[in-house]
Amino acid sequence: MRFDILTLFPAMFTGPLTESILKRAAQAELLQFQLHDIRDYATDKHKMVDDSPTGGGAGMVMKPGPLALCTEAVLAADPNPAPVVLMTPSGRVFNQTMAREWAKLPRLVLVCGHYEGIDERYIERYVTDQVSLGDFVLTGGELAAMTIVDAVGRLVPEVLDPESLAHESHDDGLLEYPHYTKPADWNGVAVPPILLSGHHANIAKWRHEQRLRRTLERRPDMLRHATLSKKDRQLLKE
Ligand code: ADE
Repeated sequence: MRFDILTLFPAMFTGPLTESILKRAAQAELLQFQLHDIRDYATDKHKMVDDSPTGGGAGMVMKPGPLALCTEAVLAADPNPAPVVLMTPSGRVFNQTMAREWAKLPRLVLVCGHYEGIDERYIERYVTDQVSLGDFVLTGGELAAMTIVDAVGRLVPEVLDPESLAHESHDDGLLEYPHYTKPADWNGVAVPPILLSGHHANIAKWRHEQRLRRTLERRPDMLRHATLSKKDRQLLKE
């Protein structure tokens, strides 16, 4: 899968894209990252990418011209159609369902906003999806784009081994169960004895109950969409 990232700060991505799982996936040619510096598409001698808001107000607005030229070049570079996704706190909140859908695509174009915003005419003409990481404001879209690359990229077939994708948080609408490793006693704190019993069915049942309890405690909103059995519902009422 190919990710095209349009940004004013391409250097912000070099660390995250050249470490760990994403690095290995790129080396294996499962993922491809193309960074595009929006400033390279500015046409005036000062390489201006932003200007004051028309109608007045604080801050600066990203000009439509350089963004449009950059987007045109990126779309023309690959015959596969791609959603053009703008990172913005005014967007739809990103979630695992969106990550799963996007991971099926051959490519994704991510546009990082900066300053007070982006000229709406660019958005109307090119942007297909507007996405937010949550109800808070970042200094720009770069960290949001990085997050989306990470969440989508890890779901692309063969990037991770399928075992590690099973039963993770948000998979079936429940949070993950707690994990433990050796030693069985750490500074006087024992692991839950059931995990040492070797009884796989009981362990699976305990873990499932932990997932239900955690979700109820931390994210009760998720239970509305979770796949729950009659027994699960009973347990949640206790
Ligand atoms: N840019 C600034 N804040 C953002 C947010 N919360 N999500 C996505 N992009 C952003």
